Amino acid sequence: MAKDSLSITDNRTGASFEVPIENGAVDAMAFRAMKVNDEDFGLMTYDPGFKNTAACKSRVTFIDGDKGILRYRGYGIEDLAENCNFLEVAYLLLRGELPKEDELTDFTEQVTHHTFLHEKTRIFMEGFLATAHPMGMFVATVGALSTFYPDAKQIRDPESRWNSMIRLVAKVPTIAAFSYRHGMGFPFVYPLNELSYAGNFLNMVKKIGVRDYHPHPVLERAIEVLFILHADHEQNCSATAMRGVGSSHSDPFSATAAAAAALYGPLHGGANEAVLRMLREIGTVDRIPEFLEAVKRGERRLMGFGHRVYKAYDPRARVIKKLAHDVFEITGRNPLIEIAIELERIALNEDYFVKRRLYPNVDFYSGLIYEAMGFPTAFFTVLFGIPRTVGWLAQWEEMLTDPDQKIARPRQLYLGHKLREFVPIESR
Ligand code: CMC
Repeated sequence: MAKDSLSITDNRTGASFEVPIENGAVDAMAFRAMKVNDEDFGLMTYDPGFKNTAACKSRVTFIDGDKGILRYRGYGIEDLAENCNFLEVAYLLLRGELPKEDELTDFTEQVTHHTFLHEKTRIFMEGFLATAHPMGMFVATVGALSTFYPDAKQIRDPESRWNSMIRLVAKVPTIAAFSYRHGMGFPFVYPLNELSYAGNFLNMVKKIGVRDYHPHPVLERAIEVLFILHADHEQNCSATAMRGVGSSHSDPFSATAAAAAALYGPLHGGANEAVLRMLREIGTVDRIPEFLEAVKRGERRLMGFGHRVYKAYDPRARVIKKLAHDVFEITGRNPLIEIAIELERIALNEDYFVKRRLYPNVDFYSGLIYEAMGFPTAFFTVLFGIPRTVGWLAQWEEMLTDPDQKIARPRQLYLGHKLREFVPIESR
């Protein structure tokens, strides 16, 4: 049996090194011993975008991008989406195990108990322009929560961390719903604790002009499933922001706001919004080839396609595609679905996409469901941010309790000027 190590010869010096391989990785710090002389800082690895750098050991979410596998704490995403409600999955991600019945009841009660926002938070939200992007409101309001809960700074206290986690999981649907209602000019609807997590969210978003709003059970379940599918995705851009900001020991509300800001971008959680804009721009099926030609020329990007990790069909996209049909039975068919299906069919047969292993990702079909359910495009990323808060918190907790973790502080390869003589302003 071959040894679990890597033999390296530094051809600059002829020195040889044996670097242990553990969990399929080598310790980047081992390279620092490789120097041309004593003054040399030592070798670094260069990896913009962290394409091949593991920054943590994790037990939360497993992805096999080649096989299209996604598991939370060892459970297949398809099984969880089929059998669980969202809070069950949230508990699994945060606590590591599926809850027993009494544990789920207790967790549900705790979350339900914290769904209300401080009235000053509501007033804070009212200060935004009516045209404010709901994701901007979401980021800012989640960050503002840290001012309401100064005790959340006790990040070394497990009880304080758990309280913050409960507060965040409970309050993000309320913040999300208020950001929607503010943009629509509708009065805010306060949480109703007798409803499910998804049902309460729909009630806060949709209820208008009726005494009781009853979400259609199929739509309530669709939101629940979408929340489950979006709950975590290991070390993505926003989880990395959460861990990075959290590593400086800032409070979890501030770190979650940073993660939400990362999610806002169109290459991450903003992609579902971008997909809808793209489908609308294409407009008709006959214009697809023309659009794809522009993509192949590098002038456009096929939004909702491609993934840093998945080089196969995103398993979440598969569940969502099926879910879309259940939703359309109730809401009527979203006319853009024809364009999406045809776009997928053509792209999956085009050399450009096949060679690069570009497949539909989670965002390709989710926006179509959201639109069919009457959510405005600008709200889509907020709908992603609600469940992903759970994933961010699971990653944050794991980071804080991992003795290997330090403040995130990457190195750089400095390629700028050497020391230059200062030039006074009148001589420049
Ligand atoms: N359309 C056209 N070409 C693409 C696309 C795309 N959507 N995605 C990747 N490529 C090409 C890219 O141009 C490059 O080609 P070449 O080798 O000729 O330069 C090659 O495929 C590799 O792409 P990359 O940009 O190096 O890959 P990446 O891992 O850095 O980017 C990505 C991953 C998700 C940012 C990218 O695929 C993308 O921009 N997709 C569209 C946006 C999107 O749908 N994002 C949602 C991701 S899933 C949800 C989430 O994580 O939030």
